[in-house]
Amino acid sequence: MAAAIFLLFYNLLMRVSVGVSGGIAAYKAAELVRALQRLGLEVHVVMTAGACRFVQPLTFAALTGYKVITSLWQDPEVTEAVAGPNGIDHIAEAQWADALVVSPATANILAKFAHGIADDFLTTMYLATTSPVLVAPAMNVNMWNHAATQANLEILRQRGVQVIEPETGELACGMVGAGRMAETATIADAVFGAIGRGHDLAGEVVLVTAGGTREAVDPVRFLGNRSSGKMGYALATAAQSRGAKVILVSGPSGLHPPSQCEVVKVISAGEMRDAVVARMNEASIIIKAAAVADYRPVAVSAQKLKRSGPLTLELAPTEDILAEVVSCRRPGQLIIGFAAETENRMENGRAKLLRKGADAIVVNDVSGSGVGIEADTNAATFLTRDTAIELPEMPKRQLADRILDEILALRRPRPVVVELDDHEEGGAIHDGAQKESVPSGARRQLIVE
Ligand code: CTP
Repeated sequence: MAAAIFLLFYNLLMRVSVGVSGGIAAYKAAELVRALQRLGLEVHVVMTAGACRFVQPLTFAALTGYKVITSLWQDPEVTEAVAGPNGIDHIAEAQWADALVVSPATANILAKFAHGIADDFLTTMYLATTSPVLVAPAMNVNMWNHAATQANLEILRQRGVQVIEPETGELACGMVGAGRMAETATIADAVFGAIGRGHDLAGEVVLVTAGGTREAVDPVRFLGNRSSGKMGYALATAAQSRGAKVILVSGPSGLHPPSQCEVVKVISAGEMRDAVVARMNEASIIIKAAAVADYRPVAVSAQKLKRSGPLTLELAPTEDILAEVVSCRRPGQLIIGFAAETENRMENGRAKLLRKGADAIVVNDVSGSGVGIEADTNAATFLTRDTAIELPEMPKRQLADRILDEILALRRPRPVVVELDDHEEGGAIHDGAQKESVPSGARRQLIVE
């Protein structure tokens, strides 16, 4: 009951901008506004010029109780209502909204979003918002299948925009195929899910390691690996946008870290170990996504090695940072490792989980091409001592959110199964469980949340 009241109260504070672009499905945006309001969300509507040809702004004004934004060049009354006396309304609207959902999203609006064209209110607001963005495409099947549309969608997915896939069926143009906008309930659920994540990491300090390390051989050569750092940077970005303070300890990488996170740049495994150990006490969650070199040359040549026949390098193991972090963790700290495997993925992953003592290991299969190391997508298994959650192939930014969801779920109490039998009436039931009378001779299970 208390949880339900909290959820309702929380939702009442959450705000959504519904962007409507110019397609025949624009009329369905009215149903979406209603569905979002039923979830307790406050809704504004932003319409493109094309959308206004299909539906009157008045419809949405009546539904929401707010003036509908239809142009960058509004009358001053609308600007003041949305942005206050000195406001710039596309910036104010972008800051107001906890999520932006565009429904329907035409091929044109997807192309503009993908390429940063900002020539009306909706496209300008898209660039200005840092909140989750969702798009519900609706168009003719050939337009949907066109390489340009698919390429634009891929760009948007990579940037973390959630694409609510259209359904296959009869289209307004009379053709049959993919392109029919998803059901209103599906879109509303997706918005609610995106907002639900909101700032669920507020108050957490997340330390992420990313990229590969380099172990010097001589002044110009090193032993390294192909890790790009994309997964670790995606985790840092996702954690920051969910309200965490992020410390990113990064091996050499050409990627741009999220703007507000603290970046500690390191090169070798030894430097990464020192940086992690120095900062680990601040962190409530430690995610070791880095591909740390397992060996370093015993001696680093002061001069560039000359070519003179076969060369044997003597290597010594590097420090196992993850194992060290686990051994000196403080209570309540969650520690997550990664495992890149090329064979016996699950067996090796499980053995690594137990050996290292982490709370969970994200196991990747890096034997194939196209996913994992260097790629933009990844598939993984989130492995704990008693669960194995499959995370299918998806862009690393989305996978980062799924991994963070599972990490947060580790904090929730797990159901406890209590076995009851005839001479153990009531069993050993934990707090909060309902006591049940057990018929003589029966054996029952009680699941305690
Ligand atoms: N790791 C670490 N320090 C090392 C090596 C690895 O902290 N010297 C961490 C990685 O960041 C990752 C996890 O340990 O989170 C597993 O890394 P991986 O290279 O898959 O495992 P290894 O322990 O090196 O075992 P192996 O190479 O034998 O599979």
